[in-house]
Amino acid sequence: MAKIIQEHDKCIGCSSCVALCSRFWEMADDGKARPINSEKKGQNYELELETPGCSKEAAEACPVQCIMVKE
Ligand code: F3S
Repeated sequence: MAKIIQEHDKCIGCSSCVALCSRFWEMADDGKARPINSEKKGQNYELELETPGCSKEAAEACPVQCIMVKE
């Protein structure tokens, strides 16, 4: 299992994650991204997946490094 964690308050809404990984990422009403079907935990959004797939590319591309992938 992999866990995707986004520090949502750090996101600047550049949407690179959505462009690279629209299967798992969407833009929210606040103009920032979040993982689709994720759970809000404090300031973060968390999502568990079998494998991180393109969220790895999203994490690498994020200009403020607010996406973490734990495997
Ligand atoms: Fe935000 Fe980073 Fe995506 S800044 S929109 S989480 S690439």
